[in-house]
Amino acid sequence: MKLSNRVLTLNGGGSNGWEIFEQARDMIAAGEPVTMLTIGEHDIGTSQEILEAMHAAALGGHTGYAAIPGTPSLRQTVADRVQARTGVATTSKNVLIVPGGQSGLFASHFAALNPGDRALHIDPYYATSPGTLRAVGAQPVAVPARAQNGFQPTYEDIAAHAEGATSLLINSPNNPTGAVYSAETLDAIAKACQDFDLWLISDEVYETQVWEGQHISPRSLPGMAERTIVVNSLSKSHAMTGSRIGWIVAPEAVIQELTELVTNTTYGVTGFVQDAAEFALKQGTSVEAAVAEPFLRRRGFVQSLVEGQNVAQLVPAQGAMYVMLDVRATGLSGKDFASGLLQEELIAVMPGESFGTAAAGHIRIALTVDDDRLQDAIKRLLNYAKARI
Ligand SMILES: Cc1ncc(COP(=O)(O)O)c(C=O)c1O
Repeated sequence: MKLSNRVLTLNGGGSNGWEIFEQARDMIAAGEPVTMLTIGEHDIGTSQEILEAMHAAALGGHTGYAAIPGTPSLRQTVADRVQARTGVATTSKNVLIVPGGQSGLFASHFAALNPGDRALHIDPYYATSPGTLRAVGAQPVAVPARAQNGFQPTYEDIAAHAEGATSLLINSPNNPTGAVYSAETLDAIAKACQDFDLWLISDEVYETQVWEGQHISPRSLPGMAERTIVVNSLSKSHAMTGSRIGWIVAPEAVIQELTELVTNTTYGVTGFVQDAAEFALKQGTSVEAAVAEPFLRRRGFVQSLVEGQNVAQLVPAQGAMYVMLDVRATGLSGKDFASGLLQEELIAVMPGESFGTAAAGHIRIALTVDDDRLQDAIKRLLNYAKARI
């Protein structure tokens, strides 16, 4: 039987970018002591308190089909949080609960794009972005954000690709670069969206991990609320990656139509997970700060280890749970560097090429193992780089 072109071309005919991660995962399964610095998964699990809330909700009977746009109280909790943080009037009718940010990204683009539409996304990008755009039948168009601009996209970068496009996907704090978009960058993005009549899809899943600067949601900029769809989740903020819970905030009409999509696809999100998410959000910002803190600390000591040499250059991360290293001085591509590092040192990092062309010659290190193990891995990684000069 023939499969659809849509599913066969999700990766654009190339790789999905996850090969090193998959290889490392297989090596770990075979008993090899690989240090895994690939995906954005915390080294702590979901907190005991959140799990207890989930357990109580399940035992309390919230195990049937849950309300499809989300439970009224979780939608209201999200609306209150977003309004308090951004100052933009937000009601529960602006909120759709989804099974994680990834599903929110798919749904947002499904709402904004027709098959064949040009959908812009910033390069370097979260590895799934082009696949998500292809999954809704759109044509992904990468807009390079340049290393010399601190990976902040400019108006000119966007305008050069925006003619005839329908949407723009941004992600700040950014995975993989750690860039936190400045007020100027966001003004430029807003202007480009207005000048070229683009939907803006703003992926804010690292909102609670900001080390320098300030997270500004572009939905709060003048004239942007009606054309912005915000995607967020509790994966990174509350170490709830496996619970698959997040939200979309958008104009009411978007949420109304997406409720139809959800009815015909996921049929909602597990009720006891929604209750646990509500509990988690109501714990306040100290819980989020505690989940984020190890990444700030580890970013600090990686920075000092890297400062002691001149082979691999650090891309200073302003947010998120990763750092990027420019390894071009070794003469290796990010992919060859990462592949050799895995074979020789049993350290798994993501090649920059997994995130587009603008990050070629870089590697991304997830700060997701304990401090001692991370320090040891960084020292060995730097020696590996030095030996290639
Ligand atoms: C930039 C970005 N967006 C979205 C996601 C998806 O997160 P989730 O589906 O777990 O909410 C991730 C996960 O790593 C990410 O890095």
